[in-house]
Amino acid sequence: VTATLHVSNSEKTISDKLIGIFFEDISYAADGGLYAELIQNRDFEYNAKDRREWNATTAWHSASPIDISTQHPLSSNNPHYAVIVADTLWNEGWDGIAVEAGHKYNFSMYVLADGQKQNFTIQLIGTDGTILASSKLKTQGTDWQQYTCVLSTKKSCTKARLAIIPQKSVRVGLDMISLFPQETFMNRPNGLRRDLAQVIADLKPKFVRFPGGCMSHGQGLDNIYHWNHTVGPLQDRKPDFNIWGYHQTRGLGFFEYFQFCEDIGAEPLPVLAAGVPCQNSAANAQGIGGQQCGIPMDQMPAYIQELLDLIEWANGDPATSKWAKLRADAGHPAPFNLKYIGIGNEDIIGTVFEERYEMICKAIRQKYPEIKICGTVGPFHAPSADYVEGWDFTKRHPELQYMVDEHYYESTGWFMHHRNYYDGYDRTMPKVYLGEYAASTNVKRPNIETALAEALYLTDVERNGDVVEMTSYAPMLAKDKHHNWDPDMIYFSNTEVRPTHAYHVQRMFSVYGGDKYVSTDIQIAPELKHRVGVSLVRHSATGRRYLKLVNALPVELTIKANGLTIPADSKTEEFSGQPTDQTLEMKQGVAGPNVLTLPPYTFRVIEL
Ligand code: AHR
Repeated sequence: VTATLHVSNSEKTISDKLIGIFFEDISYAADGGLYAELIQNRDFEYNAKDRREWNATTAWHSASPIDISTQHPLSSNNPHYAVIVADTLWNEGWDGIAVEAGHKYNFSMYVLADGQKQNFTIQLIGTDGTILASSKLKTQGTDWQQYTCVLSTKKSCTKARLAIIPQKSVRVGLDMISLFPQETFMNRPNGLRRDLAQVIADLKPKFVRFPGGCMSHGQGLDNIYHWNHTVGPLQDRKPDFNIWGYHQTRGLGFFEYFQFCEDIGAEPLPVLAAGVPCQNSAANAQGIGGQQCGIPMDQMPAYIQELLDLIEWANGDPATSKWAKLRADAGHPAPFNLKYIGIGNEDIIGTVFEERYEMICKAIRQKYPEIKICGTVGPFHAPSADYVEGWDFTKRHPELQYMVDEHYYESTGWFMHHRNYYDGYDRTMPKVYLGEYAASTNVKRPNIETALAEALYLTDVERNGDVVEMTSYAPMLAKDKHHNWDPDMIYFSNTEVRPTHAYHVQRMFSVYGGDKYVSTDIQIAPELKHRVGVSLVRHSATGRRYLKLVNALPVELTIKANGLTIPADSKTEEFSGQPTDQTLEMKQGVAGPNVLTLPPYTFRVIEL
């Protein structure tokens, strides 16, 4: 098949933040995932709200039943702790603890010793009983005290266990039992898994949205995510159940999210509830169109203050603000320079939402007019009637927000046939954040066809980058055997990280992004057009131009370009294969004479 490409001289300015990431603790993305803590249920706070069969001893083992006490807690936010006498306490980790020979691991625990001395041996034990690492810990004190030691592993093991072995018979309380690899991403304490964080960093996301998704607005009013429960000393953070059926330690809290954003050069985009819980939560079981429940009006001022405190915490001066001092005390005296805040996620747009959303936006705009607010248009997209209602509210109140978040998980066919989705958007209205999307309804895992559908769609999103400010594929991470959702962009286990074709589409659109869109026009038989995509952008700071070409046809495509010269040494990157392929084979090279001939099912970027 042959197509003709006309490249003009006309350019328009587009968003330079088009590709970011959506991070939600779904499918064990945070606890047991990106957060590098190797001990599961370190705080003994697991309970039946997390999962019906869970309790304070889940993931812990001992020869005799483990005694759990709340009599003299380390922190009122962490009331449970284990009491042991002479029996060894074991932790199974998250599907085992993966350790590597020649590496060091920081062990720590709080001990309530009641004045008596106790010596512990702390060990990592392999599946065959081999001692992989061992260290001694002497404890003595009259109240809770933290003790630390380093475990140096002699052998690797993918499924080790931790053993805390008391050396004599003394009754002690234990809490916040923790084991971290010494090497975390950027070697941050309480840090992130290096391999996983690096794959995310390689995507060069322009922003990070966190902590959800549904997790932001939570399973009912009591489960709304409160950012201020997630900062400060680890033992004082307030754990909660996770809407996705497990536990949130909040060890990966707002400080760590903001730190990660800074480390990878991405803008933080915290998304918090609009005073209403998840549209799917039990409290809202009447379903879409039913009355949504919300934080009672007399409690809204306190909730709004909490959101204002976040901005103060992120950007304030520690000399004058107690919230900024909390940030400085955690090791970050300089402001985080927060520019965006998201309010609401897929909420039912109706009176309960609208009243609260309006109150929140007005308060933020009044105190921090420089902060860009991102609202929501609800859980639907065009042409559904509910979607029209969602936008209707935005259109009646364009002044409330800078942009609005819309979500869609659709089939590859949908993406291929809705390439003009943003063409008719009213440019006078708030901008769009396509906060969650994936070509997903017909697959369990991304493959070449779904990735090409997303790439095709993104060529048109770039074309509409004057109205679409940001986009993020969702969900991003999924741990093997713990999927809440399919498909996902990156799969991982304790030892492996497996990016998909969907990841590489995101990475290539991000790394080869620009802030100017150069007009192009592709002439091809009309019935083939939905399977061919072209986009040319220019990055004005470097002067580089990137040409993206997508051929989702089952045949070779040759493009004849008018008005474009491609130097033979131009770098290229691409993937191609069969539609259902999931095995990745990325190719990098230089242009050569046939650079505009694309094999069937190919996504190629040429750096001009
Ligand atoms: O991405 C998974 C979920 O999909 C998000 O938590 C929610 O916002 C959407 O419904």
